Amino acid sequence: MADPKKLFIKTYGCQMNVYDSERMAEAMGADGYVTTETVDDADMVLINTCHIREKASEKLYSDLGRLRKLKAAKPDLKVGVAGCVAQAEGAEILRRMPLVDLVVGPQAYHRLPEMARAKGQSIDTDFPLEDKFDSLPERAATRGPTAFLTVQEGCDKFCAFCVVPYTRGAEVSRPVDRILTEARGLVSKGVRDITLLGQNVNAYHGSHQGRDLTLAKLLREMAGIDGLQRLRYTTSHPNDMDDDLIAAHGDLPKLMPYLHLPVQSGSDRILKAMNRKHTAEQYLRLIERIREARPDILLSSDFIAGFPGETEAEFEETLDLIRAVGFGMAYSFKYSARPGTPAAEKPELPAEVSDARLQRLQTLLTQQQRAAQEAMVGREVDVLYEKPGRLAGQMIGKSDHLHAVHVDDPQGKIGELVRVRVSASSSNSLAGTRISR
Ligand code: 5AD
Ligand code: SF4
Repeated sequence: MADPKKLFIKTYGCQMNVYDSERMAEAMGADGYVTTETVDDADMVLINTCHIREKASEKLYSDLGRLRKLKAAKPDLKVGVAGCVAQAEGAEILRRMPLVDLVVGPQAYHRLPEMARAKGQSIDTDFPLEDKFDSLPERAATRGPTAFLTVQEGCDKFCAFCVVPYTRGAEVSRPVDRILTEARGLVSKGVRDITLLGQNVNAYHGSHQGRDLTLAKLLREMAGIDGLQRLRYTTSHPNDMDDDLIAAHGDLPKLMPYLHLPVQSGSDRILKAMNRKHTAEQYLRLIERIREARPDILLSSDFIAGFPGETEAEFEETLDLIRAVGFGMAYSFKYSARPGTPAAEKPELPAEVSDARLQRLQTLLTQQQRAAQEAMVGREVDVLYEKPGRLAGQMIGKSDHLHAVHVDDPQGKIGELVRVRVSASSSNSLAGTRISR
């Protein structure tokens, strides 16, 4: 029998892209491809792009440029571009880069195998109505006890800086029964911790027995799955945190005390210019209510430094909001204009101003992250082992609060949920000792 063909995938961007890359690998697996970590061995190279912040198209073109030699040596090499840059600039990519065989947008991944079989260049960047995951094979072996599960895609919010509504399209939710079937399949393969994914996950409204279910109801259904120990969801919009979802944080023990709730800015004028449709005060009130439901919840957020027109005083309002909340984790980005978005029409701040503000944001957020970690020292936490550590006999897993924890445990097994006493905190992780069998 001939050797299987090899597929190399390079993934940029968010967890949704990581999930999509895995599903594309499985779709190609059904067509006889196995994945490889070495690009030179590949019969097919797929670049799964992200358009959200980085200089995405420049990176893509330099990746493609580097593939020229490989394609010259292997004329049968298939080169594909997937993801949000494919969606936004598909035809342009094919024109500029004749070595690209196929361009596939995020809603057309189920067509990938047939496109890979076709001769000549092909492109599919449609937004079909059916669920793309329906036509993909069932999920294969997973990589351990944690998994992501996409429940919703796209976004109707149109924040002034963001390309997602254009590249991922309108918000679509997957039906509840498909999600539950996929989740049960994952659990039967050893998954214990599932993160529900969506660009706007708490706007979820999937159909179930003729009714629409909210994310809170979906989480309640998911919590009923035997063998599933932990649930999380990301990414949420403050305006979609409904009462039932807040309540779920108080009454669903499987729902972990961690919430990523981007606020972007602490200035009402900037929030308005960003089209976020809430004020700083409303966000703070919301945080209060979430903490009432789950006092130990660890909060995480995204921030943008240097949005067009942001004054020094407005930037300081963001620092004030951060001090008022106390985030256990956060991501901060320098504003970068995305062509086609309303904010891209406005004059940008000088790069030195945005750079300096980003630095100040990061300094404060790092201090808060360290403080949240330090506060765990001496406490008992549950840790789900994900992989062996670098040192002999060491295991690494995540706590309920999503802290990475290193545990010296020669008998430890991947997939075990153990009780650990935290003994130390370092820059990005905790260390502890196992105290249960
Ligand atoms: N510039 C900077 N940051 C951005 N984000 C999205 N678009 C931009 C942009 N144009 C950030 C937001 C969002 C996160 C996923 O990426 O903070 O929450
Ligand atoms: Fe982008 Fe999130 Fe705003 Fe949607 S809610 S437009 S995905 S930043």
